[in-house]
Amino acid sequence: MGVIRRHPVITLLVAGLAIAGLAIFLAWRHLSTPLPASALPAAHRPDVANGRLLYHAGGCISCHRGRGPHAALPAGGRRLKTPGGAILVPNITPDRETGIGAWRPIDFVNALKKGLGPDGTHYIPAFPYTSYAWMTLPDILDLFAYLKTLKPVKNTTPLERAPLTRFALAFWQWLALPRHAFRPIPGQSASFNRGAYLVVGPGHCGECHTPRNAIFLLDRDRWLAGAPHLSEKGKVPSLRNLKGRGRYKSVNDLASALKYGEALGYEDLSSGGMGEVQSNLARLPEADLKAIAEYLLGLK
Ligand code: HEC
Ligand code: HEC
Repeated sequence: MGVIRRHPVITLLVAGLAIAGLAIFLAWRHLSTPLPASALPAAHRPDVANGRLLYHAGGCISCHRGRGPHAALPAGGRRLKTPGGAILVPNITPDRETGIGAWRPIDFVNALKKGLGPDGTHYIPAFPYTSYAWMTLPDILDLFAYLKTLKPVKNTTPLERAPLTRFALAFWQWLALPRHAFRPIPGQSASFNRGAYLVVGPGHCGECHTPRNAIFLLDRDRWLAGAPHLSEKGKVPSLRNLKGRGRYKSVNDLASALKYGEALGYEDLSSGGMGEVQSNLARLPEADLKAIAEYLLGLK
């Protein structure tokens, strides 16, 4: 009889667990709240040409490239290797059923700014939204407008389920996501800040070139200082002190390396995904490549 007698300690423990569970759930709900449509700039007229530029700066095609006849479009369907296992890359062409054709602008903004899908799904950070979140809202809206001009491709690419991982991601996202868009660094030139913006935000260069800590957050103290490669063997080189180490002579030299890569004999921008990054960067205006080079050569 005494065995099942309620003990006050057990009652307290059960109550404590229930309260902790509720607190975790409420925190999760709070962290999973998307931005409302009212957060969008009211009078923005999308600039498709700027959207195309950001599409190339962001290297969307590198991961979202379609297969077979759709290789020129971000129709998805490839599997991306990540430390947590392979993941299917979705179709982001404007097909209404299988792509993002039925999305509202705010849905797209929440994907890039918050890592949240229209149905509240928490995206796996293999989609580098932790960098894209530094982008300005007008730029994100322009990028969306550009994607809408692409040919819709019918290709079903269901998000793969990892319910517990996705649940836990809410807490990680709270730590990993910036609280505001990129802010120009005072005292630096407009071109330096343009370069910084492209590198930090759309270019997501830090995702590969910056080492991470034990919980996978970028180590800001070692920004772009080189890191182990996440999906392939070997290391991603440091982008600091490129001039001092004799890697590139000048802003023009580094800008040409980014524009032409291997084709002009710059050997160190070809492997480990960098070749794709470089071929996307090659489509940016000269001034933007020089801006990126100016920012990078400023890193000591
Ligand atoms: C490094 C690879 C990579 C790059 C680069 C990348 N993505 Fe993705 N993206 C992914 C993966 C993987 C997913 C799926 C994430 C998941 O399953 O949680 C995804 C998901 C998305 C989604 C959600 C789609 C859906 O059906 O819910 C959107 C929108 C998206 N990406 C847009 C973009 C845009 C725009 C760019 C370029 C600015 C871009 N991505 C660049 C890998 C990438
Ligand atoms: C997918 C991971 C990845 C991303 C994203 C990435 N890089 Fe790289 N990067 C690499 C790898 C790997 C190498 C080494 C390539 C080689 O040795 O062939 C490299 C090499 C370089 C080099 C040559 C360094 C040297 O010592 O000569 C430069 C410059 C560079 N990256 C700039 C950038 C910039 C700018 C961005 C963002 C726009 C960027 N990278 C984004 C993986 C990446």
